[in-house]
Amino acid sequence: MQVIFKELTKSFEESLLESLIKNEKKEEFEKIRKNLINQASKEEYGDYQCNICLVLSKIYKSNPREIAITFIETLKENKKISNLCEDLEIAGPGFINIKLKNKVLIEEIKSNIKCPRAGVPLSHKNNSHSQKKVIVDFSSPNIAKEMHVGHLRSTIIGDSISKIFEFRGYIVLRLNHIGDWGTQFGMLITQLKDLYSSDLKEIDRIKISDLVEFYKASKKRFDNEIEFQKRSREEVVQLQSGVKKSIEAWKLLCNQSRKEFDQIYKTLNIKIKERGESFYNPFLKSIIEDLNDKRLLVEDQGAKCVFLDGMTNKEGNPLPLIIQKKDGGFNYATTDLAALRYRFNKEPNGDNAARIIYVTDHGQSNHFAGVFQVAKRANWIPKDCEVNHVPFGLVQGIDGKKLKTREGDTIKLKDLLSESVKRAKEDLLKRLEIESRFENDDFILNTSKVIGIGAVKYADLSQNRITNYQFSFEKMLSLNGNTAPYLLYTLVRISGINRKNNMTKEAINLESISYSHDLEWKLIRKLLNFDEVIISIEKDLMPNRLCNYLFELCKTFNRFYDQVPILKGEMITKISRLTLCALTEKTLKLSLELLGIETLERM
Ligand code: ARG
Repeated sequence: MQVIFKELTKSFEESLLESLIKNEKKEEFEKIRKNLINQASKEEYGDYQCNICLVLSKIYKSNPREIAITFIETLKENKKISNLCEDLEIAGPGFINIKLKNKVLIEEIKSNIKCPRAGVPLSHKNNSHSQKKVIVDFSSPNIAKEMHVGHLRSTIIGDSISKIFEFRGYIVLRLNHIGDWGTQFGMLITQLKDLYSSDLKEIDRIKISDLVEFYKASKKRFDNEIEFQKRSREEVVQLQSGVKKSIEAWKLLCNQSRKEFDQIYKTLNIKIKERGESFYNPFLKSIIEDLNDKRLLVEDQGAKCVFLDGMTNKEGNPLPLIIQKKDGGFNYATTDLAALRYRFNKEPNGDNAARIIYVTDHGQSNHFAGVFQVAKRANWIPKDCEVNHVPFGLVQGIDGKKLKTREGDTIKLKDLLSESVKRAKEDLLKRLEIESRFENDDFILNTSKVIGIGAVKYADLSQNRITNYQFSFEKMLSLNGNTAPYLLYTLVRISGINRKNNMTKEAINLESISYSHDLEWKLIRKLLNFDEVIISIEKDLMPNRLCNYLFELCKTFNRFYDQVPILKGEMITKISRLTLCALTEKTLKLSLELLGIETLERM
């Protein structure tokens, strides 16, 4: 209902200027016009509320109720407003309650039913030239290290944010900023040479069975053997200067890790383009030069850094962002600066993005605040462009501690996902037995996969991402509550209605639909909020808004389903109610797609 909301706001503005704001108060108007009308805070207040009379009463030092009475007189004369709204009512000390006319809501329902996007507008006008490019930097695990639950969260949240932007018509570049460069490769390659052959002759035939174990073993040697450490350092230099064998060994390690990551992406059905840290190597030197030219670079104890404004350490001294270490090596932050500059197109062939979104745990908030600040001061963020860090909290076990296996080891992502599918299958088999239902193996396999994976994703997305969240299979797989199975089940109910309904699509004539039941109107109002929810996520990057909305929508639908006969009434009633089922179905399907969750006809 964005369009209606905008029209209404505009008409209110016009009337406000006409009746209340005298010319000399024009600046005041600019201040207050922002929140002229808002969503009603409670259903019984109607659709929207206007609280402006209270603010005006302070400006004019008079009674808010009287102001409201005058205001309403003018509002009533506005044709647009009288077409859209029922009589405006004053409530409390001077609030104005706004209720849309039923016929306006029905027109909206009809138009959303016809619209494949359920009423969500595209962000750009019809020509593709105005399409903006958004980069979402997410997932981004590190080579030879475990992809952990933090990366899982980043992957799930980043994918959903990407999908929402794609749906709104942005050009989205999903980037996997893999940790594929850095000093750790020195020790990994040295270990490789020690374990296989020092000249790495038959490198193609090397298979490391467990890369994470391999990493741990190399790290142990690096920490304990001076000679190994020395050779590892030399190896880094060789790798950085592009010695063939070292590069080959590096590629081998990357390929192996990539295979493991890809398995997870496949299970989760995630598309992402790999562009690791190593990609930005050629640009690192010029970052130093550029910062130096702009007089931002300061030498401190041999390291080159930029001191950050407004960010201090415990002693109150400004924090440095280290750009080049004493030994000449570059940092995580240096690569991020190079990546940012490249993505905003300062380099030939850069990405030309309008917005970059980084999805990582909140432990990296300071890192990004520093990087963004330096980029701003260096003028690398073009006008009208935006950067956002999307931080999220930790994943914990139900005991509130770090997620672990029963034996106390860290949980492998693969195992975590298959555990969820396994449990979903157990639940399903139990249900089949209770209902004495027979289903074939394909059905069981697919249904448990959709539920198991969907549940993990939804549990992650439905949390306010900023807080830590407790991982509980039991909760996320429950058919009750704000869970994927509950939403999927609602969809299954609608599919059931569709199967029972013997009317053809053509027979469903929208022209005469009408509603009388309170629960119908509640559902209508929920359905019409969909576009506002999607648009708000684009601003604040909180996918849990969509989840909360869907939970509300499903509860409202299920109440309607339980209490209002859908297929039994007269033709017009039946068509009207089926229309609401169809729009609920479409909204749910589109939304679950945006959350990366597959859907089911039966479960
Ligand atoms: N590889 C990093 C990690 O595992 C995440 C990278 C996030 N993206 C970025 N541009 N820094 O913590």
